[in-house]
Amino acid sequence: MLTFFLCHYLIVFQNYITDYNSIFSKFMSFEYLPELGTKINDLDTPALVIDLDLVESNLSIMQNAANKMNINLRPHSKTHKSTYWAKKQITLGAIGICCAKIGEAEIMSRSGVDNILIANQIIGHSKIERLISIAKMSNVIVACDSEKNIRELSMASTLNSLTLGVLVEINVGQNRCGIDPAKSLEFAKLIDTLPGLTFKGIMGYEGHIVGEKDYEIRSKKARESMKFLQDSVEIIKAGGLKCEIVSAAGTGTYSFSGSVKEVTELQCGSYIFMDGDYMNVMDDFDSALFLLTSVISNNVHNQIVVDCGLKSISVDRGLANVITPNDAEIVKHSEEHTIISTDGDLEIGDKVRLLPQHGDTTINLHDFYFGVRNGKLETIIPIDARGKFR
Ligand SMILES: Cc1ncc(COP(=O)(O)O)c(C=O)c1O
Repeated sequence: MLTFFLCHYLIVFQNYITDYNSIFSKFMSFEYLPELGTKINDLDTPALVIDLDLVESNLSIMQNAANKMNINLRPHSKTHKSTYWAKKQITLGAIGICCAKIGEAEIMSRSGVDNILIANQIIGHSKIERLISIAKMSNVIVACDSEKNIRELSMASTLNSLTLGVLVEINVGQNRCGIDPAKSLEFAKLIDTLPGLTFKGIMGYEGHIVGEKDYEIRSKKARESMKFLQDSVEIIKAGGLKCEIVSAAGTGTYSFSGSVKEVTELQCGSYIFMDGDYMNVMDDFDSALFLLTSVISNNVHNQIVVDCGLKSISVDRGLANVITPNDAEIVKHSEEHTIISTDGDLEIGDKVRLLPQHGDTTINLHDFYFGVRNGKLETIIPIDARGKFR
């Protein structure tokens, strides 16, 4: 009887896998991909286009700045969601990457990215099991800010005879995750004494400051924010523990937080492409990404309709800027349409370039980057960690 049930379930499982694979391969073959060498304006749309010269320049600027400040760079992959760019960043000198989610870390680890900090809390049995599987393959560190989570991590790690590196997240003023610096020693000691865990240090993300447009205010507030980390380091060291890693900073604060001597690594993400929102904050990096769209209708006076909508561009930080034509403005999106007001005469099929206000949430909607150089498609890069929000 038992053998019968086991065989039955094996067959069902096998069928499921076979069906899944065939559905997946059919799905993939439906995807139209242009030939390399295609001119930008001949790309099928909507297409997420990146200027390879500018992306490479952004990557070098940040890596050179980190080298100059003598600080490690561990870019956040939540922006690009791509193993291609993670490896590029590491080749240029980054010590590893940050991930926000287990799903992202799985993709990165399987592709051979070894040094991963999950700069988020990983909660619950199912995700912790997945974390353990990653830890068996790659060098992974995880952030935490609750005693319950620390004990769960210790139990799972011990059961699997592993030693998991843990950072304590400090609330540096963002009031999202993180503990009060006054509790940092208590948390560090708990991690240090529990089996299966190693206390690696602390992290804090000053996300409430990165978008401050005034340079002086951003600089002052970033330093105030880093004081929470400096205090925590002092308290932990006075308690007799080593704080090997102090991880912090976003793109808007890299130069301020990176010059605080206690901070050992930068977690910046957005600098790779620089979305519309960040271009209002700073000009250290170039805007290297846009959404290419086509005019599909022009029947209403002083108005065109293009073929992107809420399913291919995000609006959580506002409506995109129209790059070309430069007199145009977005009026409204629906799912697959965008109404744009313009005085210009645009024909059906003409191309319109949009700069999304928020890169991360727009990128997460796409399967590929279309990498261009000298006006032509040079490479198609999979956004292989897109949608991995679990
Ligand atoms: C924890 C953490 N670290 C780093 C970053 C990267 O910041 P930025 O995109 O401003 O470079 C983020 C972005 O939200 C984040 O949540």
